[in-house]
Amino acid sequence: MFSYTSATAASTELLPREERERRLEAAGYNVFGLASRDVFVDLLTDSGTGTMSDAQWAAMMEADEAYAGSESFRELEAAVSDVMGFDRVVPTHQGRGAENVLYGCLIGEGDVVPNNTHFDTTRAHVSENGGDPVDCPVEEAGDLGGEEPFKGDLDPEKVRALVDRVGANRIPAIVLTITNNSVAGQPVSMANVEATRELADELDATFVIDACRFAENAFFISEREDGHGDRSTAEIAREQLSHADAIVMSGKKDGLANVGGFVGVRDPDLFERAKQRAILYEGFSTYGGMAGRDMAAMAVGLREAVTEEYLGARIGRVRELGDRLRERGVPIYTPVGGHAVYLDAGRALPHVPDDEFPGQALVCELYREGGVRGVELGSFAFPETDRPELVRLALPRRTYHDEHLDHVAETAAAVLDRSDEVTGLKVVSEPDNEALRHFSAELRPV
Ligand code: F0G
Repeated sequence: MFSYTSATAASTELLPREERERRLEAAGYNVFGLASRDVFVDLLTDSGTGTMSDAQWAAMMEADEAYAGSESFRELEAAVSDVMGFDRVVPTHQGRGAENVLYGCLIGEGDVVPNNTHFDTTRAHVSENGGDPVDCPVEEAGDLGGEEPFKGDLDPEKVRALVDRVGANRIPAIVLTITNNSVAGQPVSMANVEATRELADELDATFVIDACRFAENAFFISEREDGHGDRSTAEIAREQLSHADAIVMSGKKDGLANVGGFVGVRDPDLFERAKQRAILYEGFSTYGGMAGRDMAAMAVGLREAVTEEYLGARIGRVRELGDRLRERGVPIYTPVGGHAVYLDAGRALPHVPDDEFPGQALVCELYREGGVRGVELGSFAFPETDRPELVRLALPRRTYHDEHLDHVAETAAAVLDRSDEVTGLKVVSEPDNEALRHFSAELRPV
């Protein structure tokens, strides 16, 4: 049904090893400093890097670029209503713009916000508004090798313990991130969405879903949760969101677009406040920082994203990569999540101590060995937390083929074969804001 031809901007040529070595050094052993032409398979992120369908490109050609009342915004509104069940939509330039708009309306000084696990921009926006972001994942989330089906869930008991400590009146909102990006892209069950709804009612808190990967989440529910196997992924996708009071969305993920985002709300007063805040930070409330063509592409993308045809291929691709890595003995987080395979750098490089960033060392080796770009999500990206040393290999949507997956798996296996030669790294310069240091810090081998 959909066809697509363009691909992400990584190079079609693998640079010679000495050249890769030189570029890595010039980038300060931080792959955010590499040019896309230096990269052979780019698994840095699944955000905005996918390939759009012919239908999306066609819609872009017919987009309405009016400042106010754009027809393309009407199409986006209709898609959000049909696919996600929210009729009040505030458009934004991307997901973090949506976070700024919504959390700026909901959160104030001294508040506490539980989340199954905060993504880094979510954590930063809660803090920015004077709130304290508290992660409440289930215990199984920390079991890197287990096969539990819904390791992305929120632990309601952790939230209740938090309420006992701080009082319900300090908790204005509960957030559920589906899928849970900071826990290896693991899904959240429908039962957990319902339990979170009940919890929010108990606390009189606003229930927010971070819906970036809501379609991928629905696929896992249809596959793994009792009572949902016979339903369409579109129906499940809509039902999981029906329990929420508000959603924040990045169109760069399951909007299948290169940029864009929005907030969806039910309450008319919150809608008015969100619109006013969005005018200040994002743009007028019928474009919100997007071009008309961006909204048109996302309107089509949302409808494509919830189809079985798309989701089966998408999740299948990520699983293929996981299988290929496992076959070659590369330690990964299991089960494989929705948008990425997460390597267990702690097991891959056990001799590198945590303060020498085994995850970042593995990221550098993958580039050095095969021009593959992943991202560290361990002690380099999250100092001061005790997260496991993971490296995320995120697959851009509708972009890479079997040969690319083979190349990535072979590259990782080759690094593992000579893992005892791999040394750790130390930071030589970093920005003042430690929370975002992994984007720009420079390192060198110890
Ligand atoms: N929430 C989640 C769960 C995310 O994964 C992201 C982005 C955002 C919010 C912010 O959206 O990028 O459109 O501003 N995640 C990307 C990633 C950057 O690589 O995981 P954005």
